[in-house]
Amino acid sequence: MAGIDYTERIPNNVVLHENRRLQRALEDWQPKFLEWWQDMGPNGFQAKEVYLRTAVSVDAQGWAKFGYVRMPDYRWGIFLAEPEVGRQVNFGDHKGQPAWQEVPGEYRGTLRRLIVTQGDTEPASVEQQRHLGRTCPSLYDLRNLFQVNVEEGRHLWAMVYLLDAHFGRDGREESEALLQRRSGDADKPRILGAFNEKTPDWLSFFMFCFFTDRDGKYQLASLAESGFDPLSQTCRFMLTEEAHHMFVGETGIMRIVQRACELQREHKTDELRKHGGIDLRTIQKYLNFHCSVSLDLFGSEISTNAANFYTAGLKGRFEETKRQDDHQLKDATYTVAELDGERIVTREEGALVSLNERLRDDYVADCARGVGRWNEVIRKHGIDFELKLPHRGFHRAIGIFADVRVSPDGRVISQAEWDARHGQWLPNDEDKAYIQSLMYPVTEPGKFANWIAPPARGINGQPVNFEYVRLG
Ligand SMILES: [Fe+2]
Ligand SMILES: [Fe+2]
Repeated sequence: MAGIDYTERIPNNVVLHENRRLQRALEDWQPKFLEWWQDMGPNGFQAKEVYLRTAVSVDAQGWAKFGYVRMPDYRWGIFLAEPEVGRQVNFGDHKGQPAWQEVPGEYRGTLRRLIVTQGDTEPASVEQQRHLGRTCPSLYDLRNLFQVNVEEGRHLWAMVYLLDAHFGRDGREESEALLQRRSGDADKPRILGAFNEKTPDWLSFFMFCFFTDRDGKYQLASLAESGFDPLSQTCRFMLTEEAHHMFVGETGIMRIVQRACELQREHKTDELRKHGGIDLRTIQKYLNFHCSVSLDLFGSEISTNAANFYTAGLKGRFEETKRQDDHQLKDATYTVAELDGERIVTREEGALVSLNERLRDDYVADCARGVGRWNEVIRKHGIDFELKLPHRGFHRAIGIFADVRVSPDGRVISQAEWDARHGQWLPNDEDKAYIQSLMYPVTEPGKFANWIAPPARGINGQPVNFEYVRLG
């Protein structure tokens, strides 16, 4: 099971050739995917050789190989994690039943919606990032961008496999629609808000990988708990790939922070714009933006949908099986935020309807660990500045905070105060123009743009000055 068959037109570890109907459906979809990739994938680099990793097995050890590939030749395919023998539905009303290998009829519509919503984010991010290659801060970063992009393409394959294998004609129609929506398009936008935002520069890209891809990690982790076993196996392997996207985001921002600290000490000022750096206050504004739009992706604090997904055994909690409780939560409560006039307070709610908020809490804790590591860099430079996650009510468009204005430190404020101050909290036109002015390509191996420090080490044991993308 672990080995991936690369002799087939569609690489896979699901013995695809034994299911002719599915094989034909996917082979029919493949050229449409490639057409989408040519139209909407990385702009200007399709013919270049990129040092990419490709999955060769789904084992934890040594699952990938590295080599030069032109992106349209990347071997996208169907890779599922090893099945767990005797796996059961681990939560909800069906807890203790054998995990489902086929879609339970009563949950068909719900499950399809969950898969489509996850699937839609994958091509969306490729579309959002398609112009970034032209302004890469180094070949190392260019390669990492493309690695993320091809893997998001692979994640689309993962979801399309589930749709085609388990949802018949509806599934095939959804597979087509996933290639037809476009990020930011007024007429046929992607499904979720954050995936219609622009990713216009590399600071935004790294923030996106840190905050928005991390939402993906938490969604995938809850779907990996699903009682629908093919979804679980699919998501478990996607999480292996996703770890690199977290790495790109966290280390990208860390290197920008590092460079800011170096410039600040060198020039004895925190005004870094005349020295071509990105100051910590500007980094904080981008952090505020990307954190807040990503918090929206978890949905409303109170959600009967979330309760239903759980009770049905379709979507669990983060690390469901590691938790010590009854895994049904009918009598349990959970603490959620509430607005009491001008004050933000908490109250106890039913645990089932609070599952979105619980997942958001797990996510925020994970984000905070990363921000702590950035602050470690600042501390080591002896600089008195701390990056902070904004209050969860700040700049929200979904849930109870959508109707009020909240400052980053968690005060409910007037519209007038918001109007006067939001430009200090979120990137304003001047900030955006400045960041844009830094975006020009640095493509000599081993060279880096002035606003970002080189990484501590290269990819796959290669030196930092390795030719990660052959532009010649
Ligand atoms: Fe993904
Ligand atoms: Fe990702």
